[in-house]
Amino acid sequence: MLLAVENLHVSYGGIRALKGISFEVEEGKIVALIGANGAGKSTTLRTICGLVRAQSGRIEYKGTVVNKVPPYKIVGMGISMVPEGRRVFTRLTVLENLEMGAYSRGSSQEAKESLANVFKRFPRLQERKSQLAGTLSGGEQQMLAMGRALMSRPQLLLMDEPSMGLAPMLVEEIFSIIREINNSGTTILLVEQNAHMALSVAGSAYVLETGEIALSGPAAEMADNPEVRKCYLGE
Ligand SMILES: Nc1ncnc2c1ncn2[C@@H]1O[C@H](COP(=O)(O)OP(=O)(O)O)[C@@H](O)[C@H]1O
Ligand SMILES: [Mg+2]
Repeated sequence: MLLAVENLHVSYGGIRALKGISFEVEEGKIVALIGANGAGKSTTLRTICGLVRAQSGRIEYKGTVVNKVPPYKIVGMGISMVPEGRRVFTRLTVLENLEMGAYSRGSSQEAKESLANVFKRFPRLQERKSQLAGTLSGGEQQMLAMGRALMSRPQLLLMDEPSMGLAPMLVEEIFSIIREINNSGTTILLVEQNAHMALSVAGSAYVLETGEIALSGPAAEMADNPEVRKCYLGE
């Protein structure tokens, strides 16, 4: 297993955000974590990245327990995150934003190669490389956030609600890019409120409800599950 999360508990002061969740991400797959606002999806990703500390439980990545590893070392181990709301540096150019993503990559030769790969995947970013990130459209900012995360050539990409706030056509485009990234060998843990899109690209899925895993299974089965259809697919 590339990533195994076991009985993870996370609190913010008195608020119990995660109440002992367990799940696994197999290498090469797209795994979806779906759930309503406040369910604990972002907390899960932030804890995996080392940005939030768990009270208890374990996060095992490639057989190593990484609970107490600092965020910059997590990136070095091959995990990178596309945060909720993109979080691009609006007053920096597209190129400068991408260079920030290469921060932990050793040589400048490697950074150059990473940049060439990102521009190949996102030609629109190349066309706009000198533009300030704050002047990009929402969809372009999402691409920039994805490109920035790919600069460190992650084996495991964590994506927090990539479809949030985007028009339906752009959502389709972003999800087809997610498929391509996965096809070229990157494992993806995808967090979404848009269960419909998430289940259409994922191999397996987990439903998170107020800090607990309520349901899990192959994505196709989940999409047929009456409870999922009622609560998450708007039927
Ligand atoms: N920095 C924080 N401080 C206090 N409570 C937080 C913080 N971040 C999240 N929470 C709380 O933790 C719970 C889970 O939040 P979050 O992981 O952001 O959910 P989701 O991403 O599924 O919307 C919510 O009750 C939220 O209010
Ligand atoms: Mg969130």
